[in-house]
Amino acid sequence: MREKIIAGNWKMNLSIPEGVKLVEDIEHYLAKRPLQTKVIVAPSFTHLYSINQLNCLHVKLSAQNCHESKKGAFTGEISPLILQDLGVQYVILGHSERRELFGESDALIRAKIEQCLSMKLKPIICCGESLEERRKNKHFEVVKEQLNTALYGLQEKSLKECMIAYEPVWAIGTGETASPEQAQEMHAYIRRFLGSICHYNETISILYGGSCKPSNAQAIFSQKDVDGGLIGGASLNSEDFIELIHLRELM
Ligand code: 13P
Repeated sequence: MREKIIAGNWKMNLSIPEGVKLVEDIEHYLAKRPLQTKVIVAPSFTHLYSINQLNCLHVKLSAQNCHESKKGAFTGEISPLILQDLGVQYVILGHSERRELFGESDALIRAKIEQCLSMKLKPIICCGESLEERRKNKHFEVVKEQLNTALYGLQEKSLKECMIAYEPVWAIGTGETASPEQAQEMHAYIRRFLGSICHYNETISILYGGSCKPSNAQAIFSQKDVDGGLIGGASLNSEDFIELIHLRELM
């Protein structure tokens, strides 16, 4: 059985008190009812210490990025070793905002994935095509190339620790979502690709991300190969995020 997942990528939002309150609210909700759905939040690095101090039993912590080295002279960067100290279990890698705005290449993302895996941090590996690439019907090719560079040649025991997030760039923060059919088609493609490189394609979780919110989540989460969501805007308030957890649990 694949895990059901709801992960919140806060990006560069929320003050530390706001972030702590949000996690307290989610934890409180989860403490009252046992759910199968795994709930993860990815705050800014600066928030991790305070949130880890809450000692949550239900809400798991992710980082939004990390450096590909364990330590060294890399001013302004965060090492996976430090993330471990902060109770972080997951790291989002290869988000399209990192690729586009900070010039991260497939090769760099691969190096980060390997370093995280060596430190027992689970990568949430993002992939997805631009609007232009979809218009040119290149979306499968683009996603395959991204995932191939990220994953090909990794040991099976490493691959099974990874999670994939399909985030079509044209759907991120735009209010435009992939249709449930478009999401399912790509998720099934990704699962077949995973099957070509390892035996864990039926157990690796594939999340959808891109303007996912309570009003459209039900149709997306009910797709066979959609295991959950990587949520941006709607992860910033407890009502929407808890509603998304609830919808994922039901589907
Ligand atoms: P939105 O849900 O705000 O579109 O962001 C999605 C995303 O980028 C999650 O990583």
